[in-house]
Amino acid sequence: MTLPATMRAVRAVDQKPVLVEAEVPQPGPGEVLVKVRATALNRADLMQAMGLYPPPKGASDILGLELAGEIAALGDGVTRWKVGDAVCALVAGGGYAEYCVVPEGSCLPKPANLSWEQAGAAAEAFFTVWTNVSDRARLKEGETLLVHGGASGIGTTAIQLYAARGHKVFTTAGGPEKVALCRKLGAFRAIDYKSEDFVSVVKAETGGRGVDVILDMIGGDYVQKNIDSLALEGRVVNIAYQNGANVTVNLLTVMLKRLSILASTLRARTAAEKAAVAAGVMRDAWPLVESGKIAPVVDSVFPLDRVAEAHARMATGAHAGKIVLSVG
Ligand SMILES: NC(=O)c1ccc[n+]([C@@H]2O[C@H](COP(=O)([O-])OP(=O)(O)OC[C@H]3O[C@@H](n4cnc5c(N)ncnc54)[C@H](OP(=O)(O)O)[C@@H]3O)[C@@H](O)[C@H]2O)c1
Repeated sequence: MTLPATMRAVRAVDQKPVLVEAEVPQPGPGEVLVKVRATALNRADLMQAMGLYPPPKGASDILGLELAGEIAALGDGVTRWKVGDAVCALVAGGGYAEYCVVPEGSCLPKPANLSWEQAGAAAEAFFTVWTNVSDRARLKEGETLLVHGGASGIGTTAIQLYAARGHKVFTTAGGPEKVALCRKLGAFRAIDYKSEDFVSVVKAETGGRGVDVILDMIGGDYVQKNIDSLALEGRVVNIAYQNGANVTVNLLTVMLKRLSILASTLRARTAAEKAAVAAGVMRDAWPLVESGKIAPVVDSVFPLDRVAEAHARMATGAHAGKIVLSVG
C-alpha cells in the first residue's frame, strides 16, 4: 500500500481543536500504522485542546485517545497483525487523524457486527472500565456495583458490561431521559442525582448493606457519600474528580468498614501494561460485544472537519454515550 506523506489531523491551536495538515507517522518496532475510519471524544480531549492537559512524554500532540480502522503498515517485529486487519485501539494521542501509530498490544480485533462509528467509540471506555472495575476494584461474582455518570461514555459501557455479566448495577444520571437510557442498558436502579439522594436509595435497595464496588468520576462531596454507600470490605475507584479532588472525609468509616479507596489513570501506562488490559477486555468483554449483547452507545457523529462542533456538544453535557468523529 502506498502511503501519503501528509494527512488531515487535529491539534490544539489557540486553545481550540483545529484541523491541520500533519506528516503521516511511521510505525516503530512493535507498532502498527492504522488508517483511521473513526475516533471518539473523551473529556480529556477538551482539556487538552484548552491547553490544560498536555500529552504524556513521547505521545503525539495530535488529539485523540482511541480509534478504529485498518492496519496500513507494520513496524519491525509485529507478529499479531497483518496489513488490512480491522482493529479498535487505545492510544496516548494521535487518534484524531487519518493515520495513527499504535503499539500492537493496544489493538483489539474490530467486532464484525460493529459499525466503524461504534468501533471507534469502544476502546477507551472498555479499557478504562475493565481495568478499574474488574482489575483494580476486583468486582467478584454476585457483587453489586454503583456507577456514577451512568449516561457518559464510560457509564454506558460499565452498566452494560457488568449487567450482562450478572451484576446488580446501580447508577446515577442527571434527568429523566438519561435515567431511562441507563435503565434500558440494564441498570437495576438508575438514580436521578438532580432529585434523589443516591446514598439513601442505595441503602434502601440493599437492605442497609450498601454496594460492593463504586466506579466514580465525580469526587467532591461524592467522596464521603461513596464511603457511606459502601458495604463492609467495599472498594471505590475514582477515574476523575470532576467536582474536586480536595475534600475532607471521615476516615473512621473507612477503617471500621475495612474499605479500599483506589484511583487510576490509563493514558500514561506503558505499552505492556495496556496490552495486559487489552487481554482482560478481550477475555471478559469482547465476547459480549461480538455476540451483540452489548454495544458502544453512540450519541452523535461529526465529520473530522467539524471537530469544534463535536467538542462544543460535549462541553454542554447534553450528550449521552459517545460523540464520534468520522474520519474516512
Ligand atoms: N482515569 C482514567 O483513566 C479515565 C479514562 C477515561 C475517562 N476518564 C474520566 O471519566 C469521566 C467520564 O468520561 P467520558 O468521556 O465518558 O465523559 P462524559 O461523557 O462527558 O461524562 C461525564 C459525566 O459526568 C456526569 N456527571 C456530572 N456531574 C455528576 C453528578 N453530580 N453525579 C453523577 N454524574 C455526574 C455527567 O452526567 P449527566 O450528563 O447525567 O449530568 C456525564 O455523564 C471523565 O471525567 C473523564 O475524564 C478517566
